[in-house]
Amino acid sequence: MTHTEHKNGDIWLDIDGEPIQVHGGGMLLHQGVYYWYGENKDSENAVGAEGALLDRVDVIGVSCYSSTDLLNWKNEGVVLPAVSDNPEHDLHPSKVAERPKVIFNAKTGKFVLWLHIDTGDYKYARTGVAVSDSPTGIFTYQRSFQPLGADSRDMTVYQDDDGVAYLLHSSDWNATLHIARLSDDYLNVTGVSVLAFEKGYREAPAIFKRNGRYYLISSGCTGWNPNPAQVAVAESVLGEWHVQGDPCEGEGAETTFHTQSTFVIPGKDGKFVLMTDRWRPKDLRQSGYAWLPIDWDGDRLILRWRDTWSGL
Ligand code: DGJ
Repeated sequence: MTHTEHKNGDIWLDIDGEPIQVHGGGMLLHQGVYYWYGENKDSENAVGAEGALLDRVDVIGVSCYSSTDLLNWKNEGVVLPAVSDNPEHDLHPSKVAERPKVIFNAKTGKFVLWLHIDTGDYKYARTGVAVSDSPTGIFTYQRSFQPLGADSRDMTVYQDDDGVAYLLHSSDWNATLHIARLSDDYLNVTGVSVLAFEKGYREAPAIFKRNGRYYLISSGCTGWNPNPAQVAVAESVLGEWHVQGDPCEGEGAETTFHTQSTFVIPGKDGKFVLMTDRWRPKDLRQSGYAWLPIDWDGDRLILRWRDTWSGL
């Protein structure tokens, strides 16, 4: 089945007519193909999970879909699967594995996947790393850790034009965003790091670069419930970050149109698209997607609701 558009806010279908399962996702463009990675939540919500703070589904793994037009998505399968036979493993179904992001390291030829690893009570608070020779996996899980000893929950990774990559993660129980430069092989953080938005309580970071400046869209911290977005601007990934405010305009602006940011796709002709999730806490597998092209008023970023996504 071929798609010419998807309805924003709904769960979208792949080319086989099946619901796309890549929540909290990110995008990699590699050799002309877009690879969309995210959380596969294709299960009933888990009931009575011990110690679980919030609604959750058992971990299935990270799924990947591929496309050349950002509309018609082929299911490439679960590229980092849960590990069911070891309750201690970071990827055991009882754990939390969220917001996977993949970057390609041209020096090592490896695809490197970073994600948020946690226990159901969100106290483990680590970042995990996995590696593959192919964008469609299977990724080999390496380890999880707390970057520079700091707790790590929502996160993203960003690869700059010069090949330098960074980890941005919510830390200090989400009060502060930590930004750390990655090692050349992208498998670890270096000691080059900064704190941003101290006591700002930002989650769901999505970063991109336009005309030499960096923009960071994030959400507040209200669990699965939507809240206002915030944009910040900097001359360097390591800051200093200046808050520009809430970019949303129009009906629903105060809840980011009932969505939460996850990634910005740098598209053709300098166009950018914010990928968001519309979470359904009581039935997480049905959580929807809404992709919003970014508008500009000079250097000021503006987000407006669009009923459909129909490509770039
Ligand atoms: C908000 C985060 O942005 C999500 O990734 C997820 O961790 C939920 N909280 C859980 O409530």
